Amino acid sequence: MAPSEAGDTARYKREAAAWAVDAFFRDGMVVGLGTGSTAAFAVQRLAELRALGRLTDVRGVPTSRQTEALARELGVPLTTLEEHPVLDVTVDGADEVAPDLSLIKGGGGALLREKVVAQASRRVVIVVDSAKLSPRLGTRWALPVEVLPFGWRSQALFLESLGARVTPRRDAAGEPFLTDQGNLVLDCGFGPIEAPEALAVRLGLRAGVVGHGLFLGLTTDLVVAGPHGVEHRAL
Ligand code: A5P
Repeated sequence: MAPSEAGDTARYKREAAAWAVDAFFRDGMVVGLGTGSTAAFAVQRLAELRALGRLTDVRGVPTSRQTEALARELGVPLTTLEEHPVLDVTVDGADEVAPDLSLIKGGGGALLREKVVAQASRRVVIVVDSAKLSPRLGTRWALPVEVLPFGWRSQALFLESLGARVTPRRDAAGEPFLTDQGNLVLDCGFGPIEAPEALAVRLGLRAGVVGHGLFLGLTTDLVVAGPHGVEHRAL
């Protein structure tokens, strides 16, 4: 990506995230805080508004240690799903968004907590730059699958039997990437996925597969920013 393109992408991410915080967060709410560069802009926007004396009574449940650290650094009050098992709204990013607002998530490795938080939320607002829109899940992004380290090679073979090209994820140091739960991530290149629901069922039935990045039927709102401004779609 050329530097100016990267700058545009960051601007779109910031615009979508700020728009969503302004539109959906209200004082008194308990909100889910997503993970990734777009969701980080939402945490920053919340901190900016707090500094202006607005949204001072909003508490967040972070979807990763990374987001927790950012929120703490910016002074955003946090709580837990134990204290608040139902959240008013979650704002999170995505790696790929299909026309029916189903998603692939997990590029940042936080897919399991992100899904737990999304399923606990009354409203799930996905914030993306327009490059994330896709005609069909799997076209642009491999599907992250979180697996227990125990027996992971068996899961890799299982995923290959479903048609995936499997790449074990590594961290920046070249070591196996570990999720916040201490599990591994297998990035599964399926190509365009014909039947995401059927694939989700197969994955859900497999012991050792702890989670996967197919988010089906969870999005209630999509906020997309691009060269033509910000667009909001609600389901
Ligand atoms: C984190 O695990 C992911 O689900 C992110 O939400 C997703 O990868 C989007 O990341 P960016 O906002 O950094 O593009």
